Amino acid sequence: MRTDGVEPAPPTAGIVQRPVRDAGRPAVQRVTIRDVASLAGVSVATVSNALNRPSIVAPDTLERVQEAIARTGFVRSTAAGQLRGGKSRTVGVVVLDLANPFFTDMVRGAEDVLRKHGYMLMVCSSDESTEQELHYLRLLEEHRVDGLLITPAGHELREIAKLAAYGVPTVLLDRDANDEALCSVTVDDIRGGQLAAHHLLELGHADIAFVNGPATIRQCADRREGAMTAVRAKGRRPRRDVVFREIEVPALTADHGERAVGALLALEPRPTAVICANDLLALGVLKGLASARLAPPEDLAVVGYDDVTFASMLSPALTSVRQPKYELGATAARLLVEEATGGAHEHRSIRFEPELVVRASSRAPRAIRP
Ligand code: RIB
Repeated sequence: MRTDGVEPAPPTAGIVQRPVRDAGRPAVQRVTIRDVASLAGVSVATVSNALNRPSIVAPDTLERVQEAIARTGFVRSTAAGQLRGGKSRTVGVVVLDLANPFFTDMVRGAEDVLRKHGYMLMVCSSDESTEQELHYLRLLEEHRVDGLLITPAGHELREIAKLAAYGVPTVLLDRDANDEALCSVTVDDIRGGQLAAHHLLELGHADIAFVNGPATIRQCADRREGAMTAVRAKGRRPRRDVVFREIEVPALTADHGERAVGALLALEPRPTAVICANDLLALGVLKGLASARLAPPEDLAVVGYDDVTFASMLSPALTSVRQPKYELGATAARLLVEEATGGAHEHRSIRFEPELVVRASSRAPRAIRP
């Protein structure tokens, strides 16, 4: 029975009614820097120095402040620190597709380095959209991130370079900086495309398809260029011409890979092998072939790109061009920390070499198999 004379509404069957806290007022008041200063017997400025510049605080005072923080459970607010122009201790990361294990492996490498330097990540997915990328660049700027790791969604780097010009250390992930004053960490995708095509040519395939993402994505353009270079080299030999046909899909996802199978099988004559611009496309192609009751590699040899974790677990296990995903992210993070900590830093591009991992999804074409 309530004492204010107002009868509580009878509980509705099945719904447990609980008294609602005053909306908008926290149940427990957050510990503030003033509470810590009062308990430690020092000024608020001394607590702020103990947090941000402990080296200028007397050891015994620092110990008293640290003990007061431990006893009250005080958690500093970076937002307050930012208002005074402090560091957010946050690094923004923008990748093309968070659902792609290539990027999550790369982000994991970056996180393991940045965590050791006291940073946390704000990870965003541009979904291969330059508009969505710009939206996140604006939000990360508002959050005053201390650094940016980004795989650009388009050729244009102007907006990214603008953030770097504001003094935000920026490193391009899986993309060259061209002539922008930015660090970058990449893999030689032209070489990767060559490895994939050369492998199939050496198996005896003379009719190869390429399921590729949009040419606006530099990695896709480079892989195609590399594959064409290998095909042209092979085509010069007296043995035979090599047919190389590209099927471009709107995005580098398994769904678009599966949908590409219809176009693949409609090619006349049907290719004996297919290179996919990444392992998600290859996963989709394998699914589409299974739906068409076709079995790789007998009916179509399949080669992917990235060598993500699931590549070796597929049936047949996927031949793929391996990229050092974790190292890409870790290296980019080390470049960013070097630049952010104000030490001697010069922008540089670090390039890794891809490696072909041959598995069961690629074999010689039936026609020339012994
Ligand atoms: O960054 C573009 C592509 O390169 C991604 O799809 C990823 O899989 C890598 O291969």
